[in-house]
Amino acid sequence: MNQETKDLTIVSVDYWSDFAKELVKLATLKPNGKILDIGTGSGACLIAVADKLGEKCHLVGIDKNKAKISQARNNFKNIVVESAQFRTMEASNLKFDDKSFDNILCGFIGFSDSYDFKNNLFIGKNAKMKEIFRVLKSGGEAAFSTWEYQQDIEIARELLQKYLIDKDMKKPDEIENLSISYSKETKEGFKIIMEDAGFTNIKIFSKDFQILYKSFDEWWEVMEYAAWIMRYTLNQNEDKLKDLKKYVSIQGIESFKQKDGYGFQKSVIFAFGSK
Ligand SMILES: C[S@@+](CC[C@H](N)C(=O)[O-])C[C@H]1O[C@@H](n2cnc3c(N)ncnc32)[C@H](O)[C@@H]1O
Repeated sequence: MNQETKDLTIVSVDYWSDFAKELVKLATLKPNGKILDIGTGSGACLIAVADKLGEKCHLVGIDKNKAKISQARNNFKNIVVESAQFRTMEASNLKFDDKSFDNILCGFIGFSDSYDFKNNLFIGKNAKMKEIFRVLKSGGEAAFSTWEYQQDIEIARELLQKYLIDKDMKKPDEIENLSISYSKETKEGFKIIMEDAGFTNIKIFSKDFQILYKSFDEWWEVMEYAAWIMRYTLNQNEDKLKDLKKYVSIQGIESFKQKDGYGFQKSVIFAFGSK
């Protein structure tokens, strides 16, 4: 397995900024246009836009999480652009007029609340995708990134499953339904939800990366939050989490060891569509 991942582009533990740069590099941005970033988080995509376009851009970032909006504003303090606004807002209910933006970016907000990517069927109204399409100008482009596979998180889940059985906390048939901790999506499903919203000229592909953790502890520190099913299943109990960490370190992630650390595959879907 490690042999396969060796030649992949390596991303750091700060992978959000690496993937944001990749999305912005691949997007066709209109110079001096109005750009909206949906689920802006800490503002990584808009920082990459400011790097790419320089001062001549009008940026708007929205996120449903107020704390993230404060963080994004803070990260933008020293970045000079013609305008940058950050607002707390829900993607499925955008407070913008129709056809307001030349470009829309949307990194990793997750669409599995409206579409079951495993069984290929709609389970909701596709409201977020339809809102994105609504506020995009005719001739504009929307660019998305989303997860196809996160080996580091899935391994953490597998080890949690083993732990729960070994410690007699759950029966084998109960562990199957444990969440995977992230919105795992597919190119086929993503094309369907984009078409449903009205996008044309859709281009979708995935790219494999390798994330390299310097040590077991570094991997675990990230997993404690990213593989949130571990915390959730153990009811946020710090002692139990410590016990799980000990168990996992004994079970080992040695098969992922490489020269400079522990390497895991992360595969990202990039999708682009026009209006
Ligand atoms: C995984 S983070 C990624 C942040 C950023 N887009 C990036 O690529 O680095 C996803 C962000 O989307 C936000 N988000 C998720 N669902 C949302 C929704 N329905 N409306 C607005 N923001 C949402 C979350 O609060 C979070 O900050």
